[in-house]
Amino acid sequence: MRTWVLAASWLVLGACGGDETTSELCGPSVAAQSWETFGQGFLTSQCQGCHASAAVDRFGAPEDVAFDTEADALDWADRILARATGPDADMPPAGGPSEQDRERLRRWLLCDL
Ligand code: HEC
Repeated sequence: MRTWVLAASWLVLGACGGDETTSELCGPSVAAQSWETFGQGFLTSQCQGCHASAAVDRFGAPEDVAFDTEADALDWADRILARATGPDADMPPAGGPSEQDRERLRRWLLCDL
């Protein structure tokens, strides 16, 4: 039985081919994130200064790029991941979020939706 489990996990890991598996990123040992527990607070404090639809001064952020609601954020999930997580993150332009919070953002957008 134990051998079977080990073999099965090896197959799953092997099948993914990347250095990070979904179970590493989203597995049960990792705290779940949600809009309520993480996304809303993070986007409000880190992004909405420029990206809220009601922002007074958008500092050049495009009018249509707003993360007011969970649905807005999900529409923009791919671009949020590209601009605010990973090695090439350049949003917010002046920096700010900790690596840990950027990782939580990634987990929220990739695992819990
Ligand atoms: C100080 C203002 C400011 C803050 C804060 C800010 N942005 Fe931006 N954002 C901009 C500006 C200016 C642009 C347009 C220029 C560009 O794309 O670099 C932009 C563009 C974008 C775009 C659209 C362009 C694309 O690549 O699709 C996304 C997505 C984005 N920002 C995500 C974020 C996220 C996520 C945060 C918070 C973690 C954030 N921004 C915080 C100013 C800001």
